[in-house]
Amino acid sequence: MALAKVAPLRFDIDRVLKHDGRAPRYTSYPTAVQFSTDIGPVEYCDWLTGLPQDGAVSLYVHVPFCTRLCWYCGCNTRVVNRPEPIGEYVRYLLREVALVARKLDGRRSASAIHLGGGTPNTLTVDELQAIFRALGREFAFVDDMEIAAELDPASLTRSWVDAAGALGMNRASLGVQTLDPKVQAAVNRTETFEQIEECVAALRAIRVRSLNLDLMYGLPHQTTQSVLDTIDAVLKFRPERLALFGYAHVPWMKSHQKLIAESALPGPAERLEQALTAEEKLVGEGYVSIGLDHFALPHDDLARAKADNRLRRNFQGYTTDAAKTLIGFGASAIGALPEGYIQNHAQELSWRQAIDRGEAPIARGVTATDDDRFRAEIIERLMCDFAVDLEAVGGRHRNGSIPDLDEAMARLRPFLEDRFISIEGRRIEVLPAGRPLVRSISACFDAYLQPDALRHSRAV
Ligand SMILES: C[S@@+](CC[C@H](N)C(=O)[O-])C[C@H]1O[C@@H](n2cnc3c(N)ncnc32)[C@H](O)[C@@H]1O
Ligand code: SF4
Repeated sequence: MALAKVAPLRFDIDRVLKHDGRAPRYTSYPTAVQFSTDIGPVEYCDWLTGLPQDGAVSLYVHVPFCTRLCWYCGCNTRVVNRPEPIGEYVRYLLREVALVARKLDGRRSASAIHLGGGTPNTLTVDELQAIFRALGREFAFVDDMEIAAELDPASLTRSWVDAAGALGMNRASLGVQTLDPKVQAAVNRTETFEQIEECVAALRAIRVRSLNLDLMYGLPHQTTQSVLDTIDAVLKFRPERLALFGYAHVPWMKSHQKLIAESALPGPAERLEQALTAEEKLVGEGYVSIGLDHFALPHDDLARAKADNRLRRNFQGYTTDAAKTLIGFGASAIGALPEGYIQNHAQELSWRQAIDRGEAPIARGVTATDDDRFRAEIIERLMCDFAVDLEAVGGRHRNGSIPDLDEAMARLRPFLEDRFISIEGRRIEVLPAGRPLVRSISACFDAYLQPDALRHSRAV
């Protein structure tokens, strides 16, 4: 494998790390930490019934099963190597789709289906088809809808890819993480370049229009060189998109992460060097850097959305999906509606019991206030565009009256003094040196965040 040289860094790492704290990833605002049991099935059903008639909805289906347990994993999933629990889950999922759809006023059109996990390719082809039939009965699929799935190369088969292709899958995301055998062994996830190559060939054969590969940095024993070597190897596939996630080590929330030796984890300075060097490499290879952790070829929808300031952020990360409503199905699935956010029971048993009672299986949620929506848009623009015009955002909320943002401005001052941001009038821009800190900068506008909120992973 050709070794890429570690490029010199343009960033003052010490200066960045001085501001490194713990901040949410802001895939929503308010974030999931603010969800409470005050919002449940009754509120959700009211929200569904009252959905505005215009505009298509997006659908998310969570598949909380995997054939292996990667020790770094932060997803809602469990290892299952028997077909029965998955079959049972799918039977309930079909009932949930019918139950939720009954609350809607009329048959809505759907512009996107995202299968996430866990590992959606643990479903059999029959189960996958049954889910699409159920969704198709309840929702009118728009022409050229986006159909995406997160896939694990270890268990992906050509027949599964062909079946998903026949159902219209046109976007796929394949987990790679790292090809370094030492890192793979330290996280209990081994796979070869050839396995990835076979999966890519199968996905290219069905002509997915956008192939994403997930990579990670900050894993145990990972070095900058090892991250670059993995990038070098996968660039052969010229994926339309690459995600480069910093390992979020939260063993107090995910106990299997305790299996990872903390002494083998790269420190904050090494993590930052890995992220920045990888970014430099990918940009040099013709990829457009998208927000915090995504890269896309210039012709890909994601890069175009960035160029047109249409980029959005939702529970799946950076997206082009403009739908105002996301309906989530499956244990732990999160939904977003104009009134707020809701989350299904994460425990499968509670999720099933609610469906047995004929209830939407909602565990918790949050109603978004006017002020939340205003701050949500500021945070979303910062996370997506690295810039926000408070005047323009204010004009779209709270009848145009911009609230007092003195506290946020005071929190921003250290970032301004260290030249990580610029402020001109009401326009805030995250300067290139401040980009790794965009989560902490966005957190300045978070009215809920306590200064030392340790529930979140490192912001850098
Ligand atoms: C649902 S998985 C992808 C599909 C499939 N299950 C697989 O692993 O190949 C979602 C992605 O989240 C990322 N991820 C999982 N746990 C993470 C963590 N603790 N920190 C950062 N990224 C993580 C990985 O890049 C992973 O590919
Ligand atoms: S990374 Fe993917 S395959 Fe591994 S445990 Fe998490 S969801 Fe499952």
